[in-house]
Amino acid sequence: MQGIENLLDNYRRDFDRYLEELMAAQKIQPGLKKAMSYSLLSGGKRIRPILTLLTCQLLEGNTGAARRVGAALEFIHTYSLIHDDLPAMDDDDFRRGQYSNHLVFGEGMAILAGDALLTQAFQLLLEVELPAERRCRLIGLIVESAGVQGMLAGQVMDLEAENREIDLEELQLIHRNKTGALFQAAILSGALCAECNEQEWQALKNYADKLGLTFQIVDDLLDVIGDSSKLGKEVGQDLKRGKATYPALLGLKESRQRAERAAAQARKSLDIFADRAESLRELVDFVLERSS
Ligand code: IPE
Ligand code: IPE
Ligand code: MG
Ligand code: MG
Ligand code: MG
Repeated sequence: MQGIENLLDNYRRDFDRYLEELMAAQKIQPGLKKAMSYSLLSGGKRIRPILTLLTCQLLEGNTGAARRVGAALEFIHTYSLIHDDLPAMDDDDFRRGQYSNHLVFGEGMAILAGDALLTQAFQLLLEVELPAERRCRLIGLIVESAGVQGMLAGQVMDLEAENREIDLEELQLIHRNKTGALFQAAILSGALCAECNEQEWQALKNYADKLGLTFQIVDDLLDVIGDSSKLGKEVGQDLKRGKATYPALLGLKESRQRAERAAAQARKSLDIFADRAESLRELVDFVLERSS
């Protein structure tokens, strides 16, 4: 774990710097830029961009392109967090160790900062240095994952499931969409910055699916047993809002077992890459054991 934690730390710092540079270079109305930067540049684990980069490195692809795609995904992820915290959605006061965007800038500006991060993500993607056809495929993948076929669908289902009994199948569908879809975009877009065969593509898709599920089950667990000072967000919120979560449906023990099972499946998906996928394998353990 020590190895992967150092590696994650280094990559995280690199992405922090890069995101700062990207924001500095953009001409944006100052009030809006301040609100966007407040959430984008306030930490975060940067797991999604790191996944894009690691996948691209595994396949010996164009890491410059992957870095830019990863940054765009972090823009999209940050937008999703700002909107997710709004009073009309999860109504959360803390995010990334500070007050939520809407508490500092007001709801109107928080909505617009989210909109701006989403739109600027696509500006960044338009400039990714890949052949035009490949770039289009990549943008299509991200549209599908972040939009109505993916994350947005998941967020809608999450809201509609509040204070309602749902079964495990429906819960898995929510988690796959609201969180898994962007993980899938991160990993497969790393593959699109390289060359891979159909078997490798399917393996990575399976890895993404299982890792995304592990990640969200652990997120649900941390809302019950986590430490808010480490998480940078308040705990106990899911129960308060009547959210559909693994612990609510299955209890802590069974949820943990499900997370471990999904993690084992994620690791197994990487078998065809043998030793070359060691970092992606260790990242599964990090996701499973994380406290932040
Ligand atoms: C939080 O994501 C939202 C979920 C999908 C559970 P992260 O836990 O990756 O949040 P940051 O980016 O590190 O703040
Ligand atoms: C968030 O899920 C998913 C997205 C933001 C798309 P949660 O609502 O569980 O995330 P947290 O717990 O607020 O970080
Ligand atoms: Mg939510
Ligand atoms: Mg939330
Ligand atoms: Mg949560």
